[in-house]
Amino acid sequence: MSDSIFLRRKSMYAFSSQPITQDILVQLFEIIQWTPSLANKQPWKLLFAVDEKVREECMTALPRGNQWAGRASALAVIISRPEDDAIRDDDPIQYYQFDCGMVAMSLMLGATELGLMTHPMAGYDADGIKKALSIPTEYHVVCVIAVGYHGDVDMLDEQTLAKENRKRDRKAVNEIIAIDRFSWG
Ligand SMILES: Cc1cc2nc3c(=O)[nH]c(=O)nc-3n(C[C@H](O)[C@H](O)[C@H](O)COP(=O)(O)O)c2cc1C
Repeated sequence: MSDSIFLRRKSMYAFSSQPITQDILVQLFEIIQWTPSLANKQPWKLLFAVDEKVREECMTALPRGNQWAGRASALAVIISRPEDDAIRDDDPIQYYQFDCGMVAMSLMLGATELGLMTHPMAGYDADGIKKALSIPTEYHVVCVIAVGYHGDVDMLDEQTLAKENRKRDRKAVNEIIAIDRFSWG
Protein backbone atom coordinates (compact mmCIF):
# COMPACT_ATOMS: atom_id res chain seq x y z
CA MET A 1 0.00 0.00 0.00
CA SER A 2 2.75 2.47 0.93
CA ASP A 3 4.05 2.47 -2.65
CA SER A 4 0.63 3.19 -4.15
CA ILE A 5 0.22 6.52 -5.92
CA PHE A 6 -2.44 7.44 -3.33
CA LEU A 7 0.15 7.41 -0.56
CA ARG A 8 3.08 8.64 -2.64
CA ARG A 9 1.19 11.79 -3.65
CA LYS A 10 2.25 14.56 -1.28
CA SER A 11 1.97 18.32 -1.48
CA MET A 12 5.61 19.20 -0.92
CA TYR A 13 7.26 22.59 -1.37
CA ALA A 14 10.76 22.01 -2.75
CA PHE A 15 10.50 21.93 -6.54
CA SER A 16 13.58 21.44 -8.70
CA SER A 17 14.17 23.38 -11.91
CA GLN A 18 14.12 20.14 -13.95
CA PRO A 19 11.80 20.75 -16.89
CA ILE A 20 8.99 18.32 -17.71
CA THR A 21 9.56 16.77 -21.13
CA GLN A 22 6.91 17.07 -23.83
CA ASP A 23 6.52 13.28 -23.73
CA ILE A 24 5.70 13.27 -19.99
CA LEU A 25 3.32 16.20 -20.41
CA VAL A 26 1.45 14.41 -23.18
CA GLN A 27 1.19 11.26 -21.03
CA LEU A 28 -0.19 13.37 -18.20
CA PHE A 29 -2.72 15.06 -20.50
CA GLU A 30 -3.93 11.65 -21.71
CA ILE A 31 -4.45 10.47 -18.12
CA ILE A 32 -6.36 13.65 -17.26
CA GLN A 33 -8.56 13.15 -20.33
CA TRP A 34 -10.13 10.03 -18.76
CA THR A 35 -11.50 11.74 -15.65
CA PRO A 36 -15.16 10.90 -14.97
CA SER A 37 -17.78 13.64 -14.74
CA LEU A 38 -21.53 14.08 -14.41
CA ALA A 39 -23.22 12.90 -17.62
CA ASN A 40 -19.71 12.92 -19.12
CA LYS A 41 -19.91 16.71 -19.40
CA GLN A 42 -16.17 17.22 -18.78
CA PRO A 43 -16.81 20.83 -17.75
CA TRP A 44 -13.15 21.62 -17.09
CA LYS A 45 -10.46 23.32 -19.11
CA LEU A 46 -6.85 23.14 -17.96
CA LEU A 47 -4.19 25.64 -18.89
CA PHE A 48 -0.59 24.62 -18.27
CA ALA A 49 1.75 27.56 -17.81
CA VAL A 50 5.09 26.15 -18.92
CA ASP A 51 6.90 29.04 -20.60
CA GLU A 52 9.07 30.87 -18.05
CA LYS A 53 7.61 34.31 -18.83
CA VAL A 54 4.03 33.02 -18.58
CA ARG A 55 4.81 31.29 -15.26
CA GLU A 56 6.37 34.50 -13.96
CA GLU A 57 3.22 36.40 -14.90
CA CYS A 58 1.11 33.80 -13.06
CA MET A 59 3.39 34.03 -10.03
CA THR A 60 2.50 37.72 -9.64
CA ALA A 61 -1.03 36.48 -8.81
CA LEU A 62 0.17 34.24 -5.97
CA PRO A 63 0.61 35.54 -2.42
CA ARG A 64 3.92 35.53 -0.58
CA GLY A 65 3.01 32.28 1.18
CA ASN A 66 2.81 30.46 -2.15
CA GLN A 67 5.95 31.87 -3.81
CA TRP A 68 7.67 28.47 -3.46
CA ALA A 69 5.52 27.51 -6.51
CA GLY A 70 7.72 29.75 -8.67
CA ARG A 71 10.29 26.95 -8.86
CA ALA A 72 7.80 24.43 -10.28
CA SER A 73 8.25 23.67 -13.99
CA ALA A 74 4.54 24.11 -14.67
CA LEU A 75 1.48 25.71 -13.13
CA ALA A 76 -1.75 23.95 -14.06
CA VAL A 77 -4.81 26.17 -13.88
CA ILE A 78 -8.23 24.50 -13.82
CA ILE A 79 -11.09 26.67 -15.06
CA SER A 80 -14.78 26.11 -15.62
CA ARG A 81 -18.17 27.83 -15.84
CA PRO A 82 -21.33 26.89 -13.90
CA GLU A 83 -23.27 26.50 -17.16
CA ASP A 84 -20.83 23.82 -18.33
CA ASP A 85 -22.34 21.38 -15.81
CA ALA A 86 -25.54 20.59 -13.89
CA ILE A 87 -26.87 22.18 -10.69
CA ARG A 88 -29.35 19.96 -8.87
CA ASP A 89 -32.51 21.56 -7.48
CA ASP A 90 -33.08 19.36 -4.40
CA ASP A 91 -29.66 20.25 -3.00
CA PRO A 92 -27.83 22.91 -4.98
CA ILE A 93 -24.57 21.12 -5.56
CA GLN A 94 -22.47 22.89 -8.18
CA TYR A 95 -21.27 19.99 -10.26
CA TYR A 96 -18.81 22.06 -12.26
CA GLN A 97 -16.87 22.51 -9.03
CA PHE A 98 -17.27 18.88 -8.01
CA ASP A 99 -16.07 17.69 -11.42
CA CYS A 100 -13.12 20.09 -11.36
CA GLY A 101 -12.12 18.46 -8.06
CA MET A 102 -12.20 15.13 -9.85
CA VAL A 103 -9.95 16.38 -12.63
CA ALA A 104 -7.59 17.92 -10.07
CA MET A 105 -7.17 14.53 -8.41
CA SER A 106 -6.60 12.83 -11.78
CA LEU A 107 -3.90 15.35 -12.50
CA MET A 108 -2.26 14.84 -9.12
CA LEU A 109 -2.39 11.04 -9.11
CA GLY A 110 -1.44 10.81 -12.78
CA ALA A 111 1.50 13.10 -12.17
CA THR A 112 2.56 10.97 -9.19
CA GLU A 113 2.49 7.88 -11.39
CA LEU A 114 4.77 9.68 -13.85
CA GLY A 115 7.27 10.56 -11.10
CA LEU A 116 6.18 14.18 -10.81
CA MET A 117 5.27 16.14 -7.70
CA THR A 118 2.15 18.32 -7.45
CA HIS A 119 0.88 20.88 -4.99
CA PRO A 120 -2.67 22.25 -5.28
CA MET A 121 -3.37 25.85 -4.30
CA ALA A 122 -6.44 27.93 -3.48
CA GLY A 123 -4.21 30.86 -2.58
CA TYR A 124 -4.15 33.00 -5.75
CA ASP A 125 -5.74 36.13 -7.14
CA ALA A 126 -8.23 34.84 -9.73
CA ASP A 127 -8.21 38.05 -11.79
CA GLY A 128 -4.42 38.03 -11.90
CA ILE A 129 -4.38 34.42 -13.13
CA LYS A 130 -7.02 35.27 -15.76
CA LYS A 131 -4.96 38.23 -16.95
CA ALA A 132 -1.76 36.19 -17.14
CA LEU A 133 -3.39 33.47 -19.25
CA SER A 134 -5.96 35.54 -21.22
CA ILE A 135 -8.85 33.64 -19.63
CA PRO A 136 -12.30 35.15 -20.39
CA THR A 137 -13.93 36.76 -17.34
CA GLU A 138 -16.90 34.36 -17.19
CA TYR A 139 -14.67 31.43 -16.22
CA HIS A 140 -13.96 30.55 -12.60
CA VAL A 141 -10.41 29.70 -11.66
CA VAL A 142 -11.14 26.63 -9.54
CA CYS A 143 -7.62 25.55 -8.64
CA VAL A 144 -3.98 26.19 -9.45
CA ILE A 145 -1.64 23.21 -9.17
CA ALA A 146 2.15 23.44 -9.16
CA VAL A 147 3.62 20.54 -11.13
CA GLY A 148 7.27 19.53 -11.37
CA TYR A 149 9.96 17.41 -9.76
CA HIS A 150 10.96 17.32 -6.13
CA GLY A 151 14.16 19.24 -5.54
CA ASP A 152 16.65 20.49 -3.02
CA VAL A 153 15.06 21.48 0.31
CA ASP A 154 18.01 23.80 1.00
CA MET A 155 16.37 26.28 -1.41
CA LEU A 156 13.47 26.78 1.00
CA ASP A 157 13.19 29.57 3.56
CA GLU A 158 12.79 28.55 7.19
CA GLN A 159 8.99 28.81 7.25
CA THR A 160 8.51 26.85 4.05
CA LEU A 161 11.04 24.22 5.15
CA ALA A 162 8.98 23.67 8.31
CA LYS A 163 5.92 23.08 6.11
CA GLU A 164 7.91 20.70 3.86
CA ASN A 165 8.94 18.69 6.95
CA ARG A 166 5.51 18.80 8.59
CA LYS A 167 4.01 15.62 9.97
CA ARG A 168 1.23 14.72 7.56
CA ASP A 169 -1.89 13.48 9.28
CA ARG A 170 -5.53 12.66 8.65
CA LYS A 171 -8.77 12.27 10.59
CA ALA A 172 -9.34 8.75 11.88
CA VAL A 173 -11.23 6.50 9.44
CA ASN A 174 -14.22 6.28 11.79
CA GLU A 175 -14.48 10.08 11.83
CA ILE A 176 -15.10 10.18 8.08
CA ILE A 177 -16.57 6.81 7.12
CA ALA A 178 -19.52 4.87 8.54
CA ILE A 179 -21.21 1.66 7.53
CA ASP A 180 -24.99 1.31 7.24
CA ARG A 181 -26.03 4.42 9.19
CA PHE A 182 -25.01 7.97 10.03
CA SER A 183 -23.05 7.49 13.21
CA TRP A 184 -21.57 10.82 14.20
CA GLY A 185 -22.85 12.92 17.14
C1 LIG B 1 -8.24 22.96 -2.77
C2 LIG B 1 -6.89 22.98 -2.11
C3 LIG B 1 -6.27 24.21 -1.88
C4 LIG B 1 -5.00 24.28 -1.30
N1 LIG B 1 -4.37 25.49 -1.18
C5 LIG B 1 -3.09 25.53 -0.74
C6 LIG B 1 -2.37 26.76 -0.77
O1 LIG B 1 -2.85 27.80 -1.22
N2 LIG B 1 -1.10 26.76 -0.30
C7 LIG B 1 -0.50 25.62 0.18
O2 LIG B 1 0.67 25.67 0.59
N3 LIG B 1 -1.15 24.42 0.17
C8 LIG B 1 -2.42 24.35 -0.27
N4 LIG B 1 -3.09 23.15 -0.33
C9 LIG B 1 -2.40 21.91 0.09
C10 LIG B 1 -2.99 21.33 1.37
O3 LIG B 1 -2.53 22.09 2.47
C11 LIG B 1 -2.58 19.85 1.46
O4 LIG B 1 -3.19 19.15 0.41
C12 LIG B 1 -2.99 19.23 2.80
O5 LIG B 1 -2.26 19.80 3.85
C13 LIG B 1 -2.76 17.74 2.82
O6 LIG B 1 -1.42 17.45 2.53
P1 LIG B 1 -1.04 16.46 1.34
O7 LIG B 1 -1.55 17.07 0.06
O8 LIG B 1 0.46 16.36 1.36
O9 LIG B 1 -1.69 15.14 1.60
C14 LIG B 1 -4.36 23.07 -0.88
C15 LIG B 1 -5.00 21.84 -1.11
C16 LIG B 1 -6.24 21.79 -1.72
C17 LIG B 1 -6.88 20.44 -1.98
